[in-house]
Amino acid sequence: MISYADAVSELFKKKESPPLCLVRTFGCRQNVSDGEKISGLLLSMGFGFTEELSVADIIIYNTCAVRESAESRVFGLLGELKHLKEKNKSLIIGFCGCMADLEHIKDKLKSQYKFVDLFFGTNAIGELPKLLYEHIAKETPALDALVSDVAEIREDIPVKRLSGMKADVPVMYGCDNFCSYCIVPYVRGRERSRSADDIAAEVKELADCGFKEIMLLGQNVNSYGKGLSGEIDFPKLLHRLNKLDGDFKIRFLSSHPKDAGRELIDAIAECERVCKHLHLPIQSGSNRILSEMNRGYTVEQYLETVNYARKIMPGFSFSTDIIVGFPNETYEDFCQTIRVLEQVRFDNIFSFIYSKRKGTKAALLKDKTDKADKSAWFRQLLEKQREIAIENNKRFIGKVLELLVDGESETDGFVSGKSDEFINVTIPGGDKSLIGQRIKVKIVKAGISALEGKLDS
Ligand code: SAH
Ligand code: SF4
Ligand code: F3S
Repeated sequence: MISYADAVSELFKKKESPPLCLVRTFGCRQNVSDGEKISGLLLSMGFGFTEELSVADIIIYNTCAVRESAESRVFGLLGELKHLKEKNKSLIIGFCGCMADLEHIKDKLKSQYKFVDLFFGTNAIGELPKLLYEHIAKETPALDALVSDVAEIREDIPVKRLSGMKADVPVMYGCDNFCSYCIVPYVRGRERSRSADDIAAEVKELADCGFKEIMLLGQNVNSYGKGLSGEIDFPKLLHRLNKLDGDFKIRFLSSHPKDAGRELIDAIAECERVCKHLHLPIQSGSNRILSEMNRGYTVEQYLETVNYARKIMPGFSFSTDIIVGFPNETYEDFCQTIRVLEQVRFDNIFSFIYSKRKGTKAALLKDKTDKADKSAWFRQLLEKQREIAIENNKRFIGKVLELLVDGESETDGFVSGKSDEFINVTIPGGDKSLIGQRIKVKIVKAGISALEGKLDS
């Protein structure tokens, strides 16, 4: 039976040169991973790739809905495509990702962005060949086309990887946590875990192909295994992957503090392939706000995990996410967040001003906190972290760190990469041939956002 992918490539064979696609992804690592699948499907349909809007035959925006700013940006960029479409009627414009799973977005597209041809949610990526075929062959209006909410995991979607040395491997999809501010559970649906056999097979294949770093992905990797038969959870998965042959390290994103217990920390300590760094979003240092956020842990419980990790792995690196200005947050609440920064001394923080998301519980709260206060606190938080990062980074001077070299700056004449602790390290005068290698460097200087090292001979 001919597949939709083959059918689309047949349709395009009539053209003189292969059609070109451009996939633009916004948002988190999970979306980037989805973008690799979208590209994989397009490749299987015979598309070539371009970065130039004006020569593309199909443009797909893979969107993020986590904050209002992310949404506005996509609408701004989408507006720019309108004139391209006016010039080139056969241009196909696709809209997918987390925003595509929201009803009010669909309504807005229907009324204001009628030129969008393809529309599919995060759980319907596998339907792309069908949607594309139907659009080209039958010209079904996109927004009336089926956007099926396929909940089962599809293992047959090809992946076009962005890197030849680092690979993202989703282990679970969706989120059941319903933090009161967050739209993700509404757009990505309930948690579903991939089978450990499928994950191990993929990681083995990647290791055999020479990939040096595997990033396991999920909105809450620590609840991996929920609903799967047999004795499997995330620490056990780490142990299983750790035993595979190859020259690779393992990282994972994101962990939820309520599920990141001692078993997880023990597994990180016991598995030599797992990098000694944990991204553990705390969101707030105030127990009152954490409870309003429905996070399911207290600051004290969070600190217990941090202290335990550092007891068994001295120097262990933590990074975190923080939301400033949750509805009715007070200066007192905010000061407690600053206090946690001082106690944990994160190597990196990702901070955001609270953004109201329609449909979430927090969106119903009447917010009395002044907007200007939120901005001032946000700046104060960044300043505090700057001070901490400068001091923190000094602890590496004179130490030898392991590094996967993955970048270069020709103008400044250095190669660079991330250490196991997930800290940027630059090597001035480093040879390009180091790119793709795991090396040891001695740290000679420490800045705010990067360390400077030289090859350790
Ligand atoms: N599942 C992951 C990350 C989800 S989104 C986790 O729980 O860690 C990434 C970050 O965006 C969150 O950690 C949070 O800090 C931030 N975020 C989510 N919703 C937000 C909102 N409505 N306003 C501001 N920041 C938000
Ligand atoms: Fe959102 Fe919370 Fe789920 Fe993370 S754990 S995706 S913040 S609901
Ligand atoms: Fe954005 Fe969706 Fe990720 S809302 S942060 S792209 S899960």
